[in-house]
Amino acid sequence: MQAVILVGGQATRLLPLTCNIPKVMVPVLNIPFLEHVIRYLKEHQIKHITLAHSRLTQPIESYFGDGSQFGVRLSYAVEDTPLGTAGAVKNAERYLDETFLALNGDIFTDLDITAMIASHLERKAKATIALTPVDDPTSYGLIETNAQGRVTRFLEKPKWSQVTTNMINAGTYVLEPEVLAYIPPQTKVSIEREVFPLLLDQGEPIYGYPSSAYWIDMGTPEKYLQLHRDLLSGKSSQYAPALSGEVVIGGQSRIHPTAQIKGPVMIGDNCTIGRNARLTGPVVIGAGCTILEDTVIEESIIWRNVQLGQHVNLRNSIIADNCCLNADSTIEDSILGDNVTVASGCKLEPGSKIWPGTTVEPKT
Ligand code: GDD
Ligand code: MG
Repeated sequence: MQAVILVGGQATRLLPLTCNIPKVMVPVLNIPFLEHVIRYLKEHQIKHITLAHSRLTQPIESYFGDGSQFGVRLSYAVEDTPLGTAGAVKNAERYLDETFLALNGDIFTDLDITAMIASHLERKAKATIALTPVDDPTSYGLIETNAQGRVTRFLEKPKWSQVTTNMINAGTYVLEPEVLAYIPPQTKVSIEREVFPLLLDQGEPIYGYPSSAYWIDMGTPEKYLQLHRDLLSGKSSQYAPALSGEVVIGGQSRIHPTAQIKGPVMIGDNCTIGRNARLTGPVVIGAGCTILEDTVIEESIIWRNVQLGQHVNLRNSIIADNCCLNADSTIEDSILGDNVTVASGCKLEPGSKIWPGTTVEPKT
C-alpha cells in the first residue's frame, strides 16, 4: 500500500514556530512530528510513502532522505507553488497506481488504519474518510453519513448554526486511483471543499470510517501543547505506558542532585539542569539545553540548545531552538521562535509571540 502525506501548506497558525521549518518538522517528544507519523504507518506495514510538499522542503529532505534509516521508502513530490490538498495529491500521481492512503501531515492518531483499509476494500468505496468525534466541529470539516455509513454531505469549517453532527473529517483517506481523474493537474484544488463534494455529486461511493481512537490535529499552539500533555500522560496507545508520569533523562545529561523534577518530564541528551531548578511536568526539554540555578519551568516545551539563566520563570510556553532567556526573566503563556534572546529581568506580556532572531529588552 502506498501513502501520500501532505506536508506543505503555510502553517500560519503555528507561527512563529514555523517561520524557518515546516509544520511537520516541529519536534514532538524531541523528534520531528513527521517521524511519529512515519513510524505509525510503518507499524501498519505501509512503507512506500510520498511526501507532498511545497515550501521549506530542505529540512524535511535532509532529515529523512530516502527513508531507509526509518525503515520506509520515501519519495518527494514538490509543488512549485502550493497546490492545495487535492492538487498536492495529484502532483504525487506518478507514485500512486493502486488503492492508496492520503494523510494530512499534522494529525497524530491511533486510528486502526489496517481495519480502515479492509473496510474500504470490502465496501468497494472510491474514497473512505476517517471520521472522529470532536466537541467543536467549527474548525474542521463536518461530515454527515447515512445509516450505512455512506457520506451524504460535507461542510468545511461550518458555523455553529450549521453544525448537525460532532463527526468530522479526521484527515486520513483511503482512495482509489480513479479519484485522481477528478483533479486537474498543476491547479490549486482543495480535496475537502472541491473534490469530495464533486465525487458526491457524481454519485461515487464515499464512506465514512468512524473511530474513537486517540486523534489530534497539532496545527495550533494550543493543540501542540495538548498533544504533549496527552502523550506524556499515556493517552495514546503508541506511547503508553513507558512515558506516563515518568521522568525520562537523555544520555550525557547532568541533573544537579538538588533539582526537583515532577513528571511527566522528558529531558534530551547533553542537557544540564542546575542547582535547585524546579521542573513541573508536562515538560519536554530538547538536546543540548542548559538550565541554571533556581530556575522554574512548568508545563512548557523547550526545543534544542536553549539556555535558561538563573531564576528564570517559564510557564505554559513553547521555546524554539537556540533561544537564550537570561537571568530573572519571566515568560508565561508565550511562544518564542528560534534564536530569540530575552534580556535579564525581562517580563514578557502573557500571550507574547516573538519572531525568530529578536532580542527582547526590558521596558524602560
Ligand atoms: N503539499 C501541500 N500543499 N500540503 C498542503 C497544502 C498545499 O498546498 N495545503 C495544506 N497542506 C497540508 C497541511 O500541511 C496539512 O498537513 C494538511 O494539508 C491539511 O491542511 P490544514 O491547513 O492543516 O487544514 P485544516 O486543519 O484547517 O483542515 C483539514 O484538516 C481537518 C482535520 O484536522 C481539513 O481536511 C478538514 O476537513 C479536517 O477536518
Ligand atoms: Mg490541520
